[in-house]
Amino acid sequence: MQMYDLIRKKRDGGILSNAEISWFVRGYTAGDIPDYQASALCMAIWYRGMTAAETTALTLAMRDSGDILHLNGVQGLRVDKHSTGGVGDKTSLVIAPVVAALGLKVAKMSGRGLGHTGGTVDKLEAIRGFRTDLTTAEFETIVNRTGLAIVGQSAELAPADKRLYALRDVTATVDSLPLIASSIMSKKLAANDDCILLDVKTGSGAFMKTEEDSRALAEAMVEIGCRAGKRVRALITDMDRPLGCAIGNALEVIEAIEVLRGGGPADLVQICEALAVHMLMLSDYGAEAACAEAVRRVIADGSALDAFARMVEAQGGDPDWIYHPEHFPTALFVREVRAPRNGYITHVDCEGYGAAALLLGAGRSRMEDVIDPAAGVVLAKRTGDFVRAGEVIATLHTSDELRLDAAEARLLGATEWGEEPPVERPLIVGVVE
Ligand code: URA
Repeated sequence: MQMYDLIRKKRDGGILSNAEISWFVRGYTAGDIPDYQASALCMAIWYRGMTAAETTALTLAMRDSGDILHLNGVQGLRVDKHSTGGVGDKTSLVIAPVVAALGLKVAKMSGRGLGHTGGTVDKLEAIRGFRTDLTTAEFETIVNRTGLAIVGQSAELAPADKRLYALRDVTATVDSLPLIASSIMSKKLAANDDCILLDVKTGSGAFMKTEEDSRALAEAMVEIGCRAGKRVRALITDMDRPLGCAIGNALEVIEAIEVLRGGGPADLVQICEALAVHMLMLSDYGAEAACAEAVRRVIADGSALDAFARMVEAQGGDPDWIYHPEHFPTALFVREVRAPRNGYITHVDCEGYGAAALLLGAGRSRMEDVIDPAAGVVLAKRTGDFVRAGEVIATLHTSDELRLDAAEARLLGATEWGEEPPVERPLIVGVVE
C-alpha cells in the first residue's frame, strides 16, 4: 500500500477500506508515515468526510493502536465524561469530583487544548507538580484510593490519536465530524469505562457550529459507543458564548474551585449540574430528582471539593492550592478592555474569544509551543449585558506584554453590539441516547 494512493482516493471522494485505514493508523503510529502525508489525508477527510463504516474503522484502529485499559482492581462502575471542546469549558474539573464524592469511580483520560479550545490536561497542569502522565498501575491505584484520577493521553493508550490530535491542532483539520468522533471514541474505548457521558458543544465556540451538525456528531459517537457495548449518552450544550467567565488554564481551575465551593457563574453551575446528574443516571444512581439533590449536597457539604483535593495530592500536586487558590500563578501583565460604545452585547464570536486567550499564551499555535498557565481572559460582561461606553468588559492576563494589543483587538472584534437585548439561547439543547 502507498500513502499517496490513500490520499488521492480520499481526495477524489472514494471510500477507504478497513485494511487501508488500519494500515494508515499502524504506519503513522509507528512513525513510518510522515506528518506531511498524514496531514494531507486529514485534510482530504476534512473535505470529503467519511462514511459511518469508515469512521468506525478509524475509531477501532486508533483504539487498537495501544493498550486497552483493564482496571480489574477497581471496584464498581467506572464512568467517564468527554466534551467535544469549547471555550471556558472547565466542567470536567467540577463534575469528576462531584460524582466521585458520590461513590462512582472516575478513571478519566483527557486531552490538551485543541485549536481555539482549552484542554483539561493543560488546565490541571497549572497546578504545580500535578502529573497527568501516570502509568497504568498508578492510574489504577489512585482511582481505587481516591475514586478519581485524570490522566493525559499516554504513549500506551490510543497513541495514534495522541499523534493525530497534535497534528490536527496545527493543520486546521480539527472540525471534522469523523475525525472528532474517532478521536474521542478511540480514547474512550481504550480507557474502557463502563459508562460514557458525552458533552457535544454547539455554537460559535464549538467545532460544530450548528445544532444539526452537533446532533449528527452526538449520534455518531453514541452509536460507536453502544456498538462497542458501552452505556453512552450525549448532551448537546450551548457553546455560543464562553462557559463561565474565565478562559485560560489557571483562571479556569480557580473558577471550577468556586463552583465546587458553591459559587461560580450561573451558566457554568447549571451545565455542571446537568452533566453530573446525567452521569449519575447513566450509572443507575437513581432518578433525576434524587441525583440532582445528591449533586447539590456534595457541593454544599464540601465533599466534592475534598475529592478534588485528594486527586490533586495523589497526582503530585499540593492540595492546599485547592483550598487556597491564591497559590495559583498570576500574570505579570493585566489589561482592562473597555466598551467602545453604549449598548447590549448581542453576540460574541466565541471562537474569537478563545483565539484571544490563545494569543495571550493560554494555548498553542505550533506543536512545540509552551503554555503560560496564568494567561487568559476574565469576562466582566457577557452576552445579553447592557454596557456603558468605557466600562470594563474583560481583563486580559499574560506574562508577555507584547501579546496584549493583538488579543485586545481580537476580543473587541469578536464582540457584537446592539440596541436590543438578544434572544436567550437554552444552555441544554438536547439529549441523544
Ligand atoms: N476532543 C477530542 O478528544 N478530540 C477531538 O478531535 C476534538 C475534541
